[in-house]
Formats: sequence, structure tokens, C-alpha cells
Amino acid sequence: MAAAAPPSPTTPAATTLPETATPCHPMFTRIRLATPSDVPHILKMTYQLAVFEHFTHLFVGTESSLSSALFSPNVQPFHSSTVFILEASQNPFTDDTHFDNDPFYKPTMKVVNLDLIIDDPEKETFRNQHGNDIFIVRFVLFFPNYSTFMAKAGFYVEDLFVRECYRRKGFGKMLLSAVAKQAVKMGYGRVEWIVLDWNVNAIKFYEGMGAKILQEWRLCRLIGDDLQAHGGSD
Ligand SMILES: CC(C)(COP(=O)(O)OP(=O)(O)OC[C@H]1O[C@@H](n2cnc3c(N)ncnc32)[C@H](O)[C@@H]1OP(=O)(O)O)[C@@H](O)C(=O)NCCC(=O)NCCS
Repeated sequence: MAAAAPPSPTTPAATTLPETATPCHPMFTRIRLATPSDVPHILKMTYQLAVFEHFTHLFVGTESSLSSALFSPNVQPFHSSTVFILEASQNPFTDDTHFDNDPFYKPTMKVVNLDLIIDDPEKETFRNQHGNDIFIVRFVLFFPNYSTFMAKAGFYVEDLFVRECYRRKGFGKMLLSAVAKQAVKMGYGRVEWIVLDWNVNAIKFYEGMGAKILQEWRLCRLIGDDLQAHGGSD
């Protein structure tokens, strides 16, 4: 074997990366069904979404209201309000019977390579109680509806939120795709939701996912006194 050539005097020091190298930090992600222990995290993220959308004056949700909507004994995932959680860790997920044996949804795992390690200022607030160094990144809440025209059920997505420091890493796409994948699996005909007209970032994100923005449809809502006015005796 030929002797190795001596290092050239211009070789960079071993502590610096060659300019062409791309820094790579693997982040292990998991999408799973929410469990009752996620309720405090989901509630915090729904409040953060209300802040983002300037609707905190309408926000009255509590852990108890969320728990009964998601986890009452007669509630079955995908047939009523359902939450997918996306969580991430810098370490691989070890076998976790707590989630792996979920009879309704087998968790999906993916490794994402990041250029930089994410500095999460709310790390401790969103730490998963069941795992070491696993953090809740985002959630999506959805429930079934039905189209008489299509003669098929679908999913309506009520809330979709990625915590700020985790945006533009592909996590939003992964979670909305998981809802769409579940819809396909169940033979459903569509997944739909509404978006505020000023939320151009979300609109770009949805269009990138292949969603059509339906300009000709208007959302109608009966709420408050206008709803109560219909509640009297006939
Ligand atoms: C909208 C939101 C869900 C997107 O999630 P995300 O994890 O940041 O999106 P992704 O990283 O998966 O983006 C996938 C693609 O969507 C597009 N996209 C996402 N965010 C975008 C933005 N701010 N501007 C332009 N395009 C964007 C890009 O094409 C992106 O791919 P790229 O980063 O390779 O260019 C997230 O930004 C969020 O939670 N925002 C605040 C709350 C909100 O608006 N919720 C939706 C209410 S209707």
C-alpha cells in the first residue's frame, strides 16, 4: 500500500467543516393518535392558534371540555373529533407499547435531516410525559362529515397548528398528509377546511399540498343570540 501523502499546508483545521459539507442533524418524528395525557398540550396549542388568528376573545376551551370531546367512553377515533399529534426527538424512538399497540392507528415514524438543531424555547412545556426527550411539535384536529353529492364521507379539519420554531421543516405537510392518507384508507371522498383570507402563508402551504381554494363558497354560521333565537318552543 502506498504511503499517505503528507497534508497540504492549505488543508483546513479538523475543527472546521469543508465549505461544501451540509450540516445534518437527524430529527426523529412520530405521528400518533392523541391520548388523554396530551390534553394539556393540545389545549395550549389551540390557544396559541387563537392568538395567531386574533380570536382569543372567543376562546373558552378548557382541559375538561377538550377531554370530553376527544376521550369520552363513546368516542371512537375517526368517527368523532380526533387528534393526531406529531412529536419529535433527537433520539430514535424506542419500542413504546403505550402507543404501538393502539388498535385504531399504528404510529408512523420518519427521520428528517435538518441543517440546524431547533432551539425550542417551550421545550419543557411540550415534553411528552411518556418518553425521554420527546417533544410535541404540532397537532391536527379533525372529524368526519358527509357529502350527499359525492355520496361519501370526508374529514373536516378544524385546527391545524405547528409550533413556531418547527415551521418550514416539512412537519405540517407530514401531518396533513396523514389525515389525507387516513381518509383514503377509509374510502372517504375529501378532506376540507377553511382558512382566513389574510393567512397567505397557510394558503401557500395548502396550495403546495394540492388543495384547491374555493373562492365561490362562503362560510355561513349561526352563533350566539342568533343561534339561541331558534331554541325557543315552536
Ligand atoms: C401553515 C402551517 C400549518 C404550515 O406548517 P409547516 O410545518 O410550517 O409547513 P411545511 O414545512 O410542511 O411546508 C411545506 C411547504 O408548504 C409551503 N409553505 C409552508 N409555509 C409557508 C410559508 N410561510 N410561506 C410560503 N410557503 C410556505 C412551502 O412550499 C413548504 O415547502 P418548503 O419549505 O420546502 O418550501 C404552519 O405554518 C402553522 O401552523 N402556522 C400557524 C397556524 C396556521 O396558520 N394554521 C393554519 C390555520 S388555517
